[in-house]
Amino acid sequence: MRSELLLPTHALDGWLIPEPLEGMHLNIQALTHGRPLEIEIGSGKGQFLLDACQRRPEVQFLGCEVKKLQAGFVASRVAKRGLRNGCAMRTDGLRLLQELLPPASIAAVHLYFPDPWWKRSHWKRRIYTPELFQAAAKVLVRGGVFHTATDVPHVAALIDAAAAASGRFFPGPVEPEAPDAPRSNFHTKALAKGHIIERRRFLLCES
Ligand SMILES: C[S@@+](CC[C@H](N)C(=O)[O-])C[C@H]1O[C@@H](n2cnc3c(N)ncnc32)[C@H](O)[C@@H]1O
Repeated sequence: MRSELLLPTHALDGWLIPEPLEGMHLNIQALTHGRPLEIEIGSGKGQFLLDACQRRPEVQFLGCEVKKLQAGFVASRVAKRGLRNGCAMRTDGLRLLQELLPPASIAAVHLYFPDPWWKRSHWKRRIYTPELFQAAAKVLVRGGVFHTATDVPHVAALIDAAAAASGRFFPGPVEPEAPDAPRSNFHTKALAKGHIIERRRFLLCES
């Protein structure tokens, strides 16, 4: 990721959202102008976010990235296309769900090709935990959906276990992927390598 691919900060107003300070929530109305909000955790280079913004202009998408350069890159890509229903924030995905979003404020979470973190000493960095699903359950509206995809079978199993352990989601039917469905960069790469992609659609339980 090269910094010269990023637009200057002043050109990213409305596209690169500052991370709220400790104890503050995101201003959802200012962000969405009344559109349903969907968030993507770990946007990477932002291809899913770009495609989704273009295909579903009635929805506001917020991509969150723990890496500052990636967040700026995603915001720059959305800004260069003049898409007003997409933006990015540099923050941790769990923090976004646990602290920055108000209760019942989003319609969907997207988590695509999360890092497997193979080494035991790195397991604590894995984002697909029961805590993530519990936090998502609090900020999703009734009928909310948590979408995931991975080409790592072990990660798919851990995602299933985390969703089940949270006690707040049940696995919903997964329809075959439409040929023009939004795809992340890792998704396109995995298909090119002939990998099997395990997609999930977890539905929020009625409480
Ligand atoms: C393997 S890449 C996949 C990127 C993209 N989702 C895709 O499918 O092309 C995982 C991404 O998640 C980001 N990431 C890892 N942990 C994160 C966290 N706790 N919060 C937000 N982003 C995170 C990484 O910086 C990286 O860009």
